[in-house]
Amino acid sequence: MTCEQAQELVKGRLSHKRYKHTVNVKNMAVELARRYGADEEKAALAALLHDAAKELPPQEMLQIFSDNAIMAKNAASRPSPVWHGIAAAILCATQWGVTDPQILSAIECHTTGKADMTLLEKIIYMADATSAERNYPGVEQLRQEEMQDLDMALLHSLQQSIAFVKKKGGKLDPQTVAACEDLQARIAQKG
Ligand SMILES: [Fe+2]
Ligand SMILES: [Fe+2]
Repeated sequence: MTCEQAQELVKGRLSHKRYKHTVNVKNMAVELARRYGADEEKAALAALLHDAAKELPPQEMLQIFSDNAIMAKNAASRPSPVWHGIAAAILCATQWGVTDPQILSAIECHTTGKADMTLLEKIIYMADATSAERNYPGVEQLRQEEMQDLDMALLHSLQQSIAFVKKKGGKLDPQTVAACEDLQARIAQKG
């Protein structure tokens, strides 16, 4: 699938507001890819498709998981806000002809992060967290930090996300905790 096709596809599947978010995430992902020497084309495609399943009803996402149990792994038992990334990755692989495992995995973990993230996964996570329309407290600092030190920005973003879920009394996704601990250990090792 080309970026043009992906953009058309999500335009038809998403509200205007979320489509605009998607285009902003794409722009930020390309900027980060350029900054860190990642593949800009892959970053653009992953960003365009990252929220492609976000407006599906939960029942439909659960159906996608049960129809694709091997790819879905334990998705249904994870917190529902993370379902849409996994559902989008499955649709990409099974319906839309996206075969690149790096792209699929960046889409899959864009809400949660995970241990031992690739550069592309980090870029999509941060592009989603800092796209132009985001205006939560601290986002401007993350935007500056991500251009200087991607790992440090990612750690701070994961920590904020964990604090936010805890404050709201929501259920933490184990992958986010794993991502945070893994990154902390790596940063400590680097000194
Ligand atoms: Fe998302
Ligand atoms: Fe998003």
